[in-house]
Amino acid sequence: MCGIVGVAGNKDAVNILINGLQKLEYRGYDSAGIYVSDKDGQDHLIKRTGAIANLKNAVGDDIRGTSGIGHTRWATHGGVTVENAHPHFSQDNRFYLVHNGVIENYEELKAKYLSDFTFTSQTDTEVVVQLVDYFATKENMNAKDAFLKTLSLLDSGSSYAFQLMDREEPDTIYVAKNKSPLLIGIGKDCNVVCSDSLAMLNVTHDFLELDDGDFVTVRPDSIEIQDKNGNLVENRKPFHVDIDASDTDKGTYPYYMLKEIDEQPNVMRKLSAEYLNADGIPEIEPELLKSIKQADRLYIVAAGTSYHAGLVGKNLFETMAQIPTEVHVASEFAYNMPLLSKNPFFIFLSQSGETADSREVLVNINKAGYKSLTITNVANSTLSRESNYTLLLHAGPEISVASTKAYTAQIAVEAILAKALGEADQIKEATEFNLKQQLGLVATGMQTIVDEKEVLNKLSKDYFVDANKAFYIGRGIDYFVSLESALKLKEISYIHAEGFASGELKHGTIALIENGTPVIGIITQSNTAGLTRSNLEETIARGSKAITIVTKSLSKDGDDIIVPDVNSMLTPLLSVIPAQLLAYYTSLNKGLDVDHPRNLAKSVTVQ
Ligand code: F6R
Repeated sequence: MCGIVGVAGNKDAVNILINGLQKLEYRGYDSAGIYVSDKDGQDHLIKRTGAIANLKNAVGDDIRGTSGIGHTRWATHGGVTVENAHPHFSQDNRFYLVHNGVIENYEELKAKYLSDFTFTSQTDTEVVVQLVDYFATKENMNAKDAFLKTLSLLDSGSSYAFQLMDREEPDTIYVAKNKSPLLIGIGKDCNVVCSDSLAMLNVTHDFLELDDGDFVTVRPDSIEIQDKNGNLVENRKPFHVDIDASDTDKGTYPYYMLKEIDEQPNVMRKLSAEYLNADGIPEIEPELLKSIKQADRLYIVAAGTSYHAGLVGKNLFETMAQIPTEVHVASEFAYNMPLLSKNPFFIFLSQSGETADSREVLVNINKAGYKSLTITNVANSTLSRESNYTLLLHAGPEISVASTKAYTAQIAVEAILAKALGEADQIKEATEFNLKQQLGLVATGMQTIVDEKEVLNKLSKDYFVDANKAFYIGRGIDYFVSLESALKLKEISYIHAEGFASGELKHGTIALIENGTPVIGIITQSNTAGLTRSNLEETIARGSKAITIVTKSLSKDGDDIIVPDVNSMLTPLLSVIPAQLLAYYTSLNKGLDVDHPRNLAKSVTVQ
């Protein structure tokens, strides 16, 4: 979703901003802009719709500045136009503002204070910058006080990460945060601001995290943080981001998605090395295990692909740790909470660690005093900071909007945690499960599938490129993988795809099958293999083009994709790979932008 970059005091400010915005492209956006100024009173505002490349061309080589702010916008209030792109400015062109988030009471504020102001956009953000101007001119306040006064009027439900610049203080950026992620980067002779550290790794690897309600004054040689009560924060410790800027490059790959699919065997090996000791026993913080052991039920809360990984996790926790587990969609849980057990423990699954729907649940359960763990790919992300415990996915940056390696890493980390819990209680299903060996087999199996990816390219060309719908079916964890497989296909190929519990087809869904409709059966569990095959036959009898993804030991003549055998709890780690590749090739063969599917954003920071 929207991205923010800012730099105070660097003669290369324009390039830093443009490079930063390019690094944020993966998050999804539809317009972008920058405002830069220098100490000689020169300033420039440039905004464009579409790709950052358009903005870069418009900026050219002649524009210079030492400080500035930049933004990628994912439209919420108002259409995709240059006028609605950020930065927004006050009617006297004194103040410039970028904003991530949503201001809930902007219409009331506009009506109350700004009836005689001239607006150029339909955004909630413009109301905020005009209000700053209102207080600066009508009540004779300096920029900082006018901004603080404005912030005090925003409805508490509003979310924001703001950067404000005042032409009269060209090397100062005022920053405010509530609910939307924002970091301050500590540079050499300059300081930077960003909504995601990946945007500024060329400048610094050391960042300060901000809390809700923080107000920061960023200058080239100083960073002054004031907390929500107005007190100066003296000892905020920086954290170091251990990612090489080159980790975020595509290298020779045409798309990040293919690179990330290919990286999965290594992610499995990395997780094994990070979490399992030489004897294959998980090394997990004892406090975390103790905290979970006190719970009578686990609640996994997540969205999209992460929710699908949670569904697979239920089986792992119930089998190895023998703890009843529920899995919930975050956006539903937040406003339609089920009756909780007496001692619940919450697990948040989130690649980005920033998903607003999940965070809403976390805020509520924190208020209720329940303990939680976040399993995420991003250290120091909001969910990680606000829950009691964190386990990292160690998958490296995931840039493509369609999540692949984070999904398999989430399942592997759930398996590691479930085994650790089961080991602690000497539960046979955990102690007898050689996870180290299994993750090794998974890694090798993944490698075999990605090495033979051309088979999926051919299947895609033969049956999917011209299809307008497709279905994945399976039972148990194969059904959960069907949900994820269908999501992958629909989000990047725009084919209407659904995952179904194969036994449910006959209760209505089978009416959708027509001549040539692709139906992919996922068959990895011996107790349901025959049933899923029968359900597939029922679709063939009605004209479907049936395709199978089957584990070797359950395969038969005529099966299409055979994946190596691993323990039945871990088969999703392999059966999902052909589905990821099928989605990738279908998007590619349709000539679509694989990494940036329409309407989608990587990090979904609005509810
Ligand atoms: C789909 C996808 C999304 C995310 C969802 C949650 O490929 O990536 O469905 O899984 O938006 O995001 P995180 O995991 O960052 O909380």
